[in-house]
Parts: sequence; structure tokens; C-alpha cells
Amino acid sequence: MCGIMGYVGPRPASPIILQGLERLEYRGYDSAGVAVADGGVIEIRKSAGKLDRLRQKLDESEPAGHIGIGHTRWATHGPPTDENAHPHTDPTEKFAIVHNGIIENYFELREELRASGREFASDTDTEVLVHLIADEYDGDLAEAIRAAVKRATGAYALVAVTAHEPDTMVAVRMIRPLVIGFGQGETFLASGIPALLDHTRDVLVMEDGELATISAAGIILEKLDGTPVERDHLDIDWDVEQAEKGGYAHFMLKEIFEQPRVVADSLLGRLDGSAVTLEDVKWDSDFEQSLEKIWITACGTAFHAGLAGKEMLEGLLRIPTEAVYAHELRYRDPIVEPNSLTLAISQSGETADTLAAARLLHERGSRLVAITNVVGSALTHYSDDVVYTRAGLEISVASTKAYTAMLVAQYLVALRLGQSRGVLDTARASEVAAALEALPSQVESLLTREAGIDEMSRYLATQLSDENDIYFIGRGLDYAVATEGSLKLKEISYLHSEAMPAGELKHGTLALITQGTPVIVVNTQAHVYDKTISALQEVKARGASVIAVAYDDDSEIEHYTDHVLRIPRTMDLLSPVLSIVPLQLLAYHVADARGLEIDQPRNLAKSVTVE
Ligand code: F6R
Repeated sequence: MCGIMGYVGPRPASPIILQGLERLEYRGYDSAGVAVADGGVIEIRKSAGKLDRLRQKLDESEPAGHIGIGHTRWATHGPPTDENAHPHTDPTEKFAIVHNGIIENYFELREELRASGREFASDTDTEVLVHLIADEYDGDLAEAIRAAVKRATGAYALVAVTAHEPDTMVAVRMIRPLVIGFGQGETFLASGIPALLDHTRDVLVMEDGELATISAAGIILEKLDGTPVERDHLDIDWDVEQAEKGGYAHFMLKEIFEQPRVVADSLLGRLDGSAVTLEDVKWDSDFEQSLEKIWITACGTAFHAGLAGKEMLEGLLRIPTEAVYAHELRYRDPIVEPNSLTLAISQSGETADTLAAARLLHERGSRLVAITNVVGSALTHYSDDVVYTRAGLEISVASTKAYTAMLVAQYLVALRLGQSRGVLDTARASEVAAALEALPSQVESLLTREAGIDEMSRYLATQLSDENDIYFIGRGLDYAVATEGSLKLKEISYLHSEAMPAGELKHGTLALITQGTPVIVVNTQAHVYDKTISALQEVKARGASVIAVAYDDDSEIEHYTDHVLRIPRTMDLLSPVLSIVPLQLLAYHVADARGLEIDQPRNLAKSVTVE
């Protein structure tokens, strides 16, 4: 996730900005830069790579000046290069901007600017904004930004400086966080509180749709329409570690709670009605028509996202789809049909087995699509197409938000292929698109509603934390979610858990169900609902203690279960995005109740780059 730091005051700006960026390093980044305004000029130093490389450039020639902005970039548009690093400037080099988030309509804006003769120095969406600001400038930076952001849609935060007004920087928050810190005759701005804590604990949190004009003496805070805003400052008593976790006890919990934003970002700019734009997908309609087989390959959580993808893609598109563990596939001799598409799914884009399996299918003639969270990762280098998941850096080893983003990426691929192949008519495609658009607020309400899922899963965790074996069951998409729920639980709580299709129980595992055995069932799929209820009756009859994940309006489920974790109603096809959330929380709270490490479970690494 990108980081922003700004400073205006009596001290040299560069070292303070660099120190703030260091405090934001934990969020992950692939390039960094600083812009300082002084004497009618803006000087920029920026570099791909870690902050050391930027520090080296600053050591060689540090721009003098008392106002400046800095940025650590986590690439979304364009690979991590010096050119794509922020800050960006306009052709006159009198304006500089840093930006977090996504400008949804940057492509149209860039084409419009290109048509009027503009040239761009980078592949980023950000550069479009600085051109717009320079175009609109008529002696007042705040007014120019106000006019520019009217033309941009998306979820972002931006900060700009201009050589014409060397005493002020202007910041806008549109969904992405920005905080302002107040010192003695100096003011700081950052994307996160940790960056401010070396200097001040007197902080104001900007809200969506606000613009701040920031000088050493203080700020003017307004809504974008110019209405003045008054807000109390906060006195932050967190230490740096607490601040990095956003006040959550662990990164895993923070990342679970980030999922509404992640789902929204994964959709941003990609859905227009039901039309799907995937910016790094280059296949043409002939390829879409000729497609005969889909392969999905991945490991761990990414594989579980792929299992859901298999159910969903095959069901929607009626194209045979096979999901195979990458470590199995790479040592097989797969028969790869000529018109086939491989979805290689990997949060890191660096998992050795996934890379090997993806290469094998590619070499045998399959078109290769990377679904990954890391721009420029190894997987993207030999893929034909990429769908980035936009989850931002995931710090917890146990993956949560990257999983939901992988699901959304696959829904977008399915919606696009379904329409182009004519298997999804307009009405059905619109229904899927509308349900996708509703997901971010549904995940949000699931996580935040009163007497909600977090409290309920914490309560249930106290009952599960001393168990030895826990079983997860479901059918179809619910089974796919059960596999991920089970993995989450075992990897951080160290309890044995197992997931299986609900129909498989009676073929062996039922022998292990005795009085009090915990069974967790996901039951959201209407066409197999009753079948899963039959499986529940079987385990109940043997004394199992059953927890269900079911829709809010399902009044039948409670007759067969001890506890129900409720999720908002959606199309059955999309339920995994919601039904996984209670299972992530349950796993988290069980591990917490057992007093375990959580963010760094024993024996596990975030990225498995060796075989
Ligand atoms: C579990 C987890 C792992 C990863 C797996 C693949 O929470 O994170 O199972 O999903 O190691 O990693 P990526 O997605 O980076 O290929």
C-alpha cells in the first residue's frame, strides 16, 4: 500500500519526509520519492526499489526547502520503475503530486489530454491528475485541485505542492486515509498515523470529500464544495507498533477488516454496468469464442480461491474447468487442449510451485493469465495477461484479504467471458454485476453491524479453543469456502481441522463424529441446501456440536445447528466473498484465545519461493 508524507515548517523538509516514509515502510512498497519546493523551483528525487536507494540520491544532492511531499509506491498502474515512482510533475515542472489509490477514469482522461498534445512521462494514473491541476491553475492551488478532482472518479488521496505557492500544500481525501499532524509552527501530513508519531501526537483525521490547505501556521479544512469544516483534534496515545496495526491487535485482524475496501478496489474502474474492463488482459474476442478449457493452478489459500473459481466458472460459462494444485500439476504430464486458458493464482506471484505449473501449461500452448497481488512479480513476467488483485500489502502470513480479492478477480473474468460468449444474457449479466457492486457494503455491514459477527465468533472461539479436531463441510462453492475456513483455523490455531464435501462424511469421516465433536457447515447454495441439511442431521444424530454459516434470512438452519454465523443475502454465486469472513474471524479468535502468535505462525513463510 502506498504511503504519503508531507511537511511544511521551518526545518529542512527532505529528512523529515524520509523519516516519515520509513515509518510507513511496514505497509510495503516498491519505489519511493520526494519533491521539495524552494525559490520558485520544485526538485524531485525518486527511485524504484527500497528507501536506501532514495536515501542515496538524497545524500548525493539533497533538495533544499522547507515544504515538500514524499511517497512510497505499491504499484497499481505500471511496473515499479524510476519513471513510475511518485512524485509526478507537469510539463512546466511547477507542480508536483503524490497520490494513493486508483483514478478510475484515468484512461479516458489520459486519452483526452493526449489528443490535445500532452505527453506523459509515466504509465501511472497519478500523472493525469498533475496535468489536470496544472491546466486548471489560475493562481490558487486549492481551486485548481478542486476543479481537477471534479473530473476524476475513484478512491484516492492526493497531496500537491506548487512552486508558485511555496508556503502551502493542498490535500484531498476521497476514501483513502489522510491524517494531519500539528507541531509548533510546523504541520505534517501523512497517509497513516505512524509517520507522524516522531513529531507530534496532536492529529486530525481527514474525512472523505475534504480538502485541506496546509501551511506551517495550520490548516484550512473544507468540503470539496468549499463548505468550512470544524473537527476536534485527537491526542494519539498509541505507540508506533499499535499505530502500524491501525489500533488492531494483529495485522491479520486489520486485514480482515480491510476487506470492504479491498473488494471495492478490485472492482474500481472495471465494471461499467455489466461491461468488464480488465486493463492488463489482452486476449481478443476470437480467443474468447474459441476457448474450450480452463485450468486453474495455485497453492494454499490461492488454490482454495481457485476451487471456488472452478465451480463458478464452469457453472456460469459451461466450459470444462480443472483446478489442480500447482505442486501436483508440475510433475504431471498434463494434456493441454489447444484453446485453453490457465489462471495461475498467487498473492505473491513468487510461489515456486505455482510458477513451475503455470510455465508448464504455458509451454504446452495454454494462454496464461496471472491473478496476483504484486505488480511486476515473477509470475507476471511470463504471463500473457494479468489481473491484479489490488489487496495492498498483506503482512499477516495467514492470507485473508488477498483471498477475497482473488475471488473478485475471477468473478470479473467470468462475467467478461460469459457475456462475450453469449452464455450470460443482458439481464443475467446485469444481475451479477449489480450483486458484485453491492459486495463492498455487504462485507462492511457484516463486519460492523451491532451484536455482529466479530463478537459472535469471539464467543464461539472460547468454546472451540480446547478442541482437538474440527470438521468443516459444505457442497459446491460452500465446500470451496470450507477448505479455506479449515486452513485458516489450522494454520494459526494449530488445531487439527479438516474440510470435506458434505456428502463425503458418510463414506468414512462420520466414524469420528461423537458427542460434542465440532462441525462447521457452510450452507448458502439453494440447489444443494436440503442435501447439506441431511448431512447435518447425520452429524447431529451422533452428537456433533454444529456451527453454521448461513444467510440472514435463512430461518430453517437453526433447527439443525447450535449456533449460526449470519451473512447478508447475495446471489449464491457470490456468497464465498461473504461466507469466508466469519470463518476468518473464527480462526483468528480461536488462535487469540489460545494465546498464539497469529501474524507469524510457526513453520510458515509468507511466500514459498523454494520447492
Ligand atoms: C495461507 C497462505 C498460503 C498461501 C500459499 C500461496 O494463509 O497464505 O497457503 O496462500 O503459500 O501463496 P501465494 O498466493 O503467494 O502463491
